[in-house]
Amino acid sequence: MSYYICSNCDYGSASLIGKCPSCNQWNTFVNKERFNSEDGKEETKKILLTPLSKIKTQQKKKKKTGSFEFDRVLDDGILPGEVILLTGEPGVGKSTLLLQSFQTFSTVYISGEESAEQVRDRAERLHIDLNRFYFSNEGQVEGIIEAFKQLKTKPEVIIIDSIQTVYSKTIETPAGSINQIKESANILIKFAKQEQIAVVLIGHITKDGDIAGPKTLEHAVDCVLNFEGEKISQYRILRTTKNRFGGIDEIGIFQMKQNGLEEVNNPLIFIQEENEISIGKSIVGTTEGNRSLFFEIQALVVPSSLGIPRRIVKGVDYNKLLILLAVMKKHLSLPLDSYDVHINVIGGVKITSPLADLGIISSVYSSFKNIPIAKKTTFIGEVGLLGEIRKGYGEEKIIREAKRLSFRHIYSSINIKNINLIKNIIRPL
Ligand code: TYD
Ligand code: MG
Repeated sequence: MSYYICSNCDYGSASLIGKCPSCNQWNTFVNKERFNSEDGKEETKKILLTPLSKIKTQQKKKKKTGSFEFDRVLDDGILPGEVILLTGEPGVGKSTLLLQSFQTFSTVYISGEESAEQVRDRAERLHIDLNRFYFSNEGQVEGIIEAFKQLKTKPEVIIIDSIQTVYSKTIETPAGSINQIKESANILIKFAKQEQIAVVLIGHITKDGDIAGPKTLEHAVDCVLNFEGEKISQYRILRTTKNRFGGIDEIGIFQMKQNGLEEVNNPLIFIQEENEISIGKSIVGTTEGNRSLFFEIQALVVPSSLGIPRRIVKGVDYNKLLILLAVMKKHLSLPLDSYDVHINVIGGVKITSPLADLGIISSVYSSFKNIPIAKKTTFIGEVGLLGEIRKGYGEEKIIREAKRLSFRHIYSSINIKNINLIKNIIRPL
């Protein structure tokens, strides 16, 4: 029996089809006569089960990079043989981040994204020691590995910028196809483990959902980092969603300047200058790992002209907003079903901490009632389905920080138990 597979993404089908239902590519199916064939069948393996305690381990030591913020996210640096996937939208600053952060390592830098001159110009602008970097534009992974082996002193890191531009000679589809991304990454991961050198793979992801490529690698790598922020804003947040060798709580904050990324330590960095407009604006205090951060949340609530009201959300989770609106509908008796709600977090960043709940509710309430929130106010609190304000992780710490930063009105689970009381806080003068 014949069997067809898509040469782009390995989707299998019993009949020959024109357009792959999985990756939407045309004419990618090839005949694989392997179905029901006896040849490929494997013998039963003899497997030896070993007590975990008998398995030898190597005491490996993490090495710090040149960037405090980067190390904070990695939980103290990089291990030999560690494979990191760094994702982010084009132009967010991934190449800049890696060039700057790996200044203390000797590095092989492979870039299919930019020309050699461009890379050198940038490295010079960033005042990086050029002698620590070996460079190539060539994207064949077998060739890259061979070239690495030829070097007399072994570099500690290979940076692949990006995984979408490299390819393996064993796969027929072009660089960037899912098969190529998977196979090239597999070869590089195997090499990293064998030689005990760190490998960093850059993966572009775009807003309109083209994340299929790099996403498929998440299970295979040791650590997944995401660099977020908007090109128009200077601020960038580095987050980790997976780390086999450390925690995933910490975030790193950077500011894109003329001469590269600068590390940021100011908890008020995302707060805009005080301006006069304060209807619909609230300041929330949250913690991310060990650090306290304040964000500005803006809400705009207007009568809806559509049958189904719109909820347009940037910077907080969409479903989280729906839940908070439902809680407001029930416990504050607001007719939000006939209003559009727009939410935006200033700075192009995402808030993941539930401590922002109370602030989201406050800005929606403020906009709905057309009542400004007093200056120097901050909200710190997780909101439950019953309308109760709960003490969230890190609350005490962020309250101390808010006091230190001279916020005059600090609302948290300590002084507001239920969202009903919002009426007393945000009220006409
Ligand atoms: P880049 O690192 O090339 O982004 P990515 O690799 O994620 O595509 O950075 C791109 C943007 O950063 C580019 O628009 C210019 C800006 N930039 C600065 O503002 N200052 C700098 O020093 C550098 C190197 C880049
Ligand atoms: Mg780049």
